[in-house]
Order: sequence, then structure tokens, then C-alpha cells
Amino acid sequence: MNVCVLGGSGFVGTELVIRLVRAGHWVRVPTRNLTRAERLRVLDTVELRVANVHEPRILSQLFAGCDAVVNLVGILNPRGRASFDTVHTELAAKVMASARTAAVRHVLHMSALGADPHAPSRYLRSKAAAEARLRAAPHSELPHADPAVTVFRPSVIFGPADSLTNRFARLLRLTAGCLPLARARARFAPICVFDVADALVRALGERASAGQTYELCGPQVMTLAQIVRLTARVARLPCRIVPLPDAIARVQGLLMGLLPGKPFSLDNFRSLTLDSVCREDGCRRLGITPTAMLAVLPTYLDPRRPAPLA
Ligand SMILES: NC(=O)c1ccc[n+]([C@@H]2O[C@H](COP(=O)([O-])OP(=O)(O)OC[C@H]3O[C@@H](n4cnc5c(N)ncnc54)[C@H](OP(=O)(O)O)[C@@H]3O)[C@@H](O)[C@H]2O)c1
Repeated sequence: MNVCVLGGSGFVGTELVIRLVRAGHWVRVPTRNLTRAERLRVLDTVELRVANVHEPRILSQLFAGCDAVVNLVGILNPRGRASFDTVHTELAAKVMASARTAAVRHVLHMSALGADPHAPSRYLRSKAAAEARLRAAPHSELPHADPAVTVFRPSVIFGPADSLTNRFARLLRLTAGCLPLARARARFAPICVFDVADALVRALGERASAGQTYELCGPQVMTLAQIVRLTARVARLPCRIVPLPDAIARVQGLLMGLLPGKPFSLDNFRSLTLDSVCREDGCRRLGITPTAMLAVLPTYLDPRRPAPLA
């Protein structure tokens, strides 16, 4: 197949593109900056393009000749002109419109567990609005059938280039192991990035995935504090968690949201007020046995292991 992967240069995208290439597909990856797609440059059947995916005319060009489109573009906090509305909701609508025009057969879309119009955070509400836009009726009568849509809702994702365990390891090093933690008892079912990428590849080749929503969870439900402790144990770092009361965590979110790069924000805090655990087993429906954290974390966090070859 010919597949266009929006967000293909990111954490999930890179793993997905590598698998698509291995499976014999040809992949087009737009990016705002080629240096972000360093790992993809060496792959034979990947075409990297610098492109503004928010421009409908450019999206249609990117989708020309593609059988499928995967949209992995996402942000955790707005920055400049990149609001949740623009990056999640409006982009989803543009992807759908351009996919129709380009006669793309299948659109795979990455949402998030907890996406709901009444969710407490703007992040989760915008993810729900994006899903709604994908399923909205077409605006014009086109000769081709509408593309099939498949939606994925993962819990938090871990893996070698994640911003979950790597960030906690960095923070523990910086603070000599003492970590004030918001929503320490929030529950997650962390899923490995390799399993998420496998799920996307499987759905791509699976007719029955059309119209489906897959919740993706790892094998264990863990609190945020347990994830931090496991990270510390594997990375051989000292760890003393100071659970923050919600009132203080809100202030932490407000203040850290003012810092460059917004390491944490009030909206992130609000997302954490919901547990991120599955109500159904999307991995099983796709024939995937999810990997435990402990099977993967040592490969990139254990300081005694040699660094993997680039
Ligand atoms: N990681 C998780 O734990 C997790 C959990 C649940 C859901 N998700 C969802 O999964 C998807 C992939 O996540 P990820 O962790 O792989 O994200 P990531 O590493 O941050 O990658 C995001 C990708 O989106 C593109 N992008 C970001 N902002 C953009 C903008 N304003 N305009 C155009 N492109 C933009 C980036 O492309 P360039 O920089 O190359 O242009 C990058 O390739 C996202 O939709 C995310 O919300 C992730």
C-alpha cells in the first residue's frame, strides 16, 4: 500500500513507519522540520516532505495516490498558533475532507483514552471533537465512497523515546530522587509503543477494522506513583514521592504552564483527574498481547546496559 503518515516523525510515528516499511509498504511522511525525522531518512521506501499539513491544498497533494492515511499529529499543550482546536479538531476535519477528495480508502486516527465531549480537560475534549469530525457526514457529493475510519484510544505510551518514563528519570536525577507528584494515585494502563505501532499496522490490513474504535491498554493497571517507582528502580535512581494535594497540584499546573515548553499545565492536571484505563480490550481484538513495562524499560533505562546502536 501507499500510506501517508501525519505525525510520522514523532514517538509513535517513527515506530509505525519502520513497521510499515518492513511490511513492504511505501510511506510518505510530512514534517515541519526534516531534522525531526532523522531516523526515517535511512529507510528506502519512505518519502519525507517538508509540508504544512494544516493547508488543505497541501494535504490533498500529500494524499494523492495514497491508499491509506494515518493521523498521529497531537499536542499536550497549545503553543502559539497551535491550539488544541487547530491541531486536533480542525486538522481531523481537513484530513477527512482531503482523504475524500483524493479517494483514500482508509483513515486511521490517533485519539486518546478518555476522549469525551464532557471530559475535564481541553486536551480530551478536543480529541473527542476530532473523532466527531471524522465521523461527520461529508459536505459534498463525491464520486468515490467515503474512506473507512478507524480510531485508536491508547492509555499512556512508554518506550525508548517516550516522554513518560524518560521524563520521570530525568526529573529524579535533577531532584536527587525527591519528586513532588500531582495526582499520584491516578490510574493508567501503560502500553508499549511497539504494541501501539503493531495495532495500527494490523488495523491497516484488516477490513473489519473499518468503523471501529480500539482502546489500547497495557497488561497492568498502575498508579502514577507506581510508574515513577518502577522507572526509578529500573534506572537505579533514588525515589521519594511527595504526593501533592489537588489544590497545590493545580497551582503547580498554573505556574509550570507559564514556563517555556510547558512541562506541566493546568489542563494536564485536569486530564489526570480521570483514570486512563480501558473499558474494552482493543489489543485482544487486534490479536496483540501487550508487553509489560518491566520487559522493555531496562532496554533503555538501565544504566548498566550498553546504549543501543543508533
Ligand atoms: N505518547 C502518549 O503517551 C500518547 C497517549 C495517548 C495518545 N497519544 C496521541 O498519539 C499521537 C502521537 O503521539 P506521540 O507521542 O507520537 O507524539 P509526538 O512524539 O509529540 O509527535 C507528534 C507529531 O505531530 C507532529 N506535530 C506536532 N505539532 C504539530 C503541529 N502544530 N502541526 C503539525 N504537526 C505537528 C510532529 O511533527 P513534526 O514536528 O515533524 O512536524 C510529530 O511528528 C498524538 O495524537 C497523541 O495525542 C499519545
